[in-house]
Amino acid sequence: MDTKELIRRAFEARKYAYTPYSHFQVGAALLAKSGKVYTGCNIESASYTPTNCAERTALFKAVSEGEREFAAIAIVGSKEGEVNSLITAPCGVCRQALYEFGGPDLAVIMAKSEEDYEETTLGALLPYGFGPANLA
Ligand code: THU
Repeated sequence: MDTKELIRRAFEARKYAYTPYSHFQVGAALLAKSGKVYTGCNIESASYTPTNCAERTALFKAVSEGEREFAAIAIVGSKEGEVNSLITAPCGVCRQALYEFGGPDLAVIMAKSEEDYEETTLGALLPYGFGPANLA
């Protein structure tokens, strides 16, 4: 799976974002080591705190279907009806949730478009992360 295709899948997922409160729409496409891609959007709530980010929607869909190992995640975000002027980096909660399964080597692709993106690793975004190995 090439990077552009993963970004395209994230843009596709963003169309389903449910964002009546923030109007900020995020899409994520998570590539499992099996080769399958799981997509997610953010889903907001009238009581605000149950809001689920796009990254965790994708992660929970994948894990609930038996996936445990991941290679990469692409993330796109912007205000409704606008083009991405900034990259969207995963929030702290999503970094921790992804670390559980992706570990420090997970590639994180933060895109404004299929051509314009930054790529880093989860280890760079969450240094000294606390994960399953710490409890072993
Ligand atoms: N959001 C995500 O879905 N992912 C991120 O990485 C950052 C924030 C969502 C949560 C909320 O629905 C909206 O963006 C504004 O914070």
